Amino acid sequence: MNQFEGKVAVITGGASGFGKEFARIGAQLGMKLVLADVQEDALDTTVAEFKAQGAQVIGLRTDVSKAAEVQALADATMTAFGEVNLVFNNAGVGAGGLVWENTEKDWEWVLGVNLYGVVHGVRIFTPLMLEAAKKDPSFQGHIVNTASMAGLLNPPAMGVYNVSKHAVVALTETLYQDLSLVTDQVRCSVLCPYFVPTGISQSHRNRPAGLTNDAPPTRSQMVSQALSDKAVGSGKVSAADVGQLTFDAIRNESFYIYSHPQALATVRQRMEDIVSQRNPGDPFGDKSEVRASLVAALRG
Ligand SMILES: NC(=O)c1ccc[n+]([C@@H]2O[C@H](COP(=O)([O-])OP(=O)(O)OC[C@H]3O[C@@H](n4cnc5c(N)ncnc54)[C@H](O)[C@@H]3O)[C@@H](O)[C@H]2O)c1
Repeated sequence: MNQFEGKVAVITGGASGFGKEFARIGAQLGMKLVLADVQEDALDTTVAEFKAQGAQVIGLRTDVSKAAEVQALADATMTAFGEVNLVFNNAGVGAGGLVWENTEKDWEWVLGVNLYGVVHGVRIFTPLMLEAAKKDPSFQGHIVNTASMAGLLNPPAMGVYNVSKHAVVALTETLYQDLSLVTDQVRCSVLCPYFVPTGISQSHRNRPAGLTNDAPPTRSQMVSQALSDKAVGSGKVSAADVGQLTFDAIRNESFYIYSHPQALATVRQRMEDIVSQRNPGDPFGDKSEVRASLVAALRG
C-alpha cells in the first residue's frame, strides 16, 4: 500500500503506545482515523488531540475481545467513512508468572484481547476490504496484526502472553498465504516488537472486573511484573520509532516487522534447536543474567 492520503485507518488500542503512534503517522499522512480502545478517558483525549490538529477522526469505545463490539466498530467505520484501507489489530495486554499458576481468568483475559481481538478484526474487516478490491482495481488494503518477539520465542514466566502471541504469528502467516490465493490488492504484516516503553506493563489497568483474580498475585507473578516494568521501561527504541518502521513496512509490503532485529539471533537459535532436536536454549540469548535473576528470585 503506497497511497495514504484520504484513506481510512482503523486502529485498535489506539489510545496509547503503538496504536497512538500509528494514529499520529496516519494523521500526518492525511488519513481518516477510526480509533478503538477499551479505556474511554484515554480514547477521548487522543481523539481530541488529533482533531485539534485538523485530522478527521472518530473514536469508539471497543472491547476487542467481544465479536459484537468489533462488528459495531466496522459498522461505525463504514457509516462514517464508507471504506476501510488499513487495519491495525493492535490492542493487547499481558499477564505473567509461572504458567501453572495462571488462572482460568488470566487465560480468558489475555487470549480474549490478544488472540480473539485479532481473530475478530481479521474475520470482520478482511471481507470488507476484499469486496472493495473486487469493485475497484485501484483499491489497496493492508492489515497489520501486532504480535511480539514473544510470538517467536518463549521466555519463562510469561506463558499466557507467549501462547497468545505465537497464535497471532500463526494467524497472520496463514492470512498472508490465504490472501495471496485470492488477491494482490490486500496485504498483511505481523509486528513483532521487543521491549519498548509504552503502557503494556500496566495493562492490568484495563482488566475487566469479571476477569480479575480473587487471590493476590503469587511470588512468581510479582517477580514477573517487576521484570516486565524494568524491561519495558528501559527500552531504547521508542513507540514512535516502531510506528515509523511499521508504516515503512506497509509501503514496502514487508511481512515481518521487528523493532530489535538483533534479537533475531535468539530466534535463529530456537529454530536450530527445533530442527536439530536439541532441548530449548535460553530465550534471553546472551542476557543470561535475566534467567539467573529469575532463578535467584524463585528458588531463593
Ligand atoms: N511495548 C512493548 O514492549 C511490546 C512488545 C511486544 C508487543 N507489544 C504489543 O503491542 C501492542 C500495543 O501495546 P502497547 O505496547 O502500545 O501498550 P499500551 O498499553 O500502551 O497500549 C495498548 C492499548 O490497548 C488497549 N486495550 C487493552 N485492552 C483492550 C481491549 N479489550 N479492547 C480494546 N483495547 C484494549 C489499552 O487501553 C491501551 O490503550 C499489544 O498487542 C502488545 O502486546 C508491546
